Amino acid sequence: MSLPWTLDDLNFAAVPAAEGTADERLVGMIAAASLVESASDLYTANLVRYFAADSEVETWLREHWEPEELQHGRALRTWVEYAWPGFDWDLTFKGFLAEYSLLCRMDALRPTPALEMVARCVIETGTATLYQTLLDLAHEPVLREIVRRIHDDEVRHFKYFLRFFRRYQNVEHLSRWSIAQALLARVREVQSEDADCAMRHVVRQRAPAIGADPEHADEWILAASRQLQQACSYDQAARMLLTPLGLSPRVRPWIGVPLAVGARLVMQGPPWRRVPGDSPRAGRWGRAA
Ligand SMILES: [Fe+2]
Ligand SMILES: [Fe+2]
Repeated sequence: MSLPWTLDDLNFAAVPAAEGTADERLVGMIAAASLVESASDLYTANLVRYFAADSEVETWLREHWEPEELQHGRALRTWVEYAWPGFDWDLTFKGFLAEYSLLCRMDALRPTPALEMVARCVIETGTATLYQTLLDLAHEPVLREIVRRIHDDEVRHFKYFLRFFRRYQNVEHLSRWSIAQALLARVREVQSEDADCAMRHVVRQRAPAIGADPEHADEWILAASRQLQQACSYDQAARMLLTPLGLSPRVRPWIGVPLAVGARLVMQGPPWRRVPGDSPRAGRWGRAA
């Protein structure tokens, strides 16, 4: 097992303790991301079992993907513990894991290997987009270095899953419609599962008075979602999401643009979670994914 970088490459001692002065929502988002990343082994166990007959995929998941995802969790956790010295990460993770583990079931995996690879591409697109957005929002240099490294890992993971998808697609010959349906279905699930669950547990631990009141906690989480939405560039996400469809430049304007609008709508969540005045529009297509 070799990691592209380690925690020793990061100078955590330079992180200022920011009790009471930090951007609470941003630190909360980093804390939530650290919980989800640290639970990656739940998914890996299911995926390794699912792809047990494919030694290339199984080996890559076990020896590269899982160690890298868990390292993302450790790096983010370490930064949060410097920024929020009083935050009980272990206790928060315990509560999160009890709820989140119920979502990581074998039957949550897709019915065919190619469709599962499509779902994996969606997850990696989501994480790459999240870390690009956090990079745009963050000012603290050590945090910026962490999220930049994680972003690069997530884009590389996407490329691996895309290659595996293409290999399986050569056997399964899924229609573009089936792939598009799988893409949008998984994007919708990403919205409802991971982030909200993790944020709820972070708020409960960081601000018990807010966390104890569901309405107040929802407002806090909604404000964090809005901060992300305002900073997020959906162009890269839409380009990455549409890559498995293999659209030719000729048909892309007819199929790709409406799908990009649909993907963006789904990524933004239901209308009550959208930023006022932020009308969905298709992404630009000038850059390669
Ligand atoms: Fe990750
Ligand atoms: Fe990843």
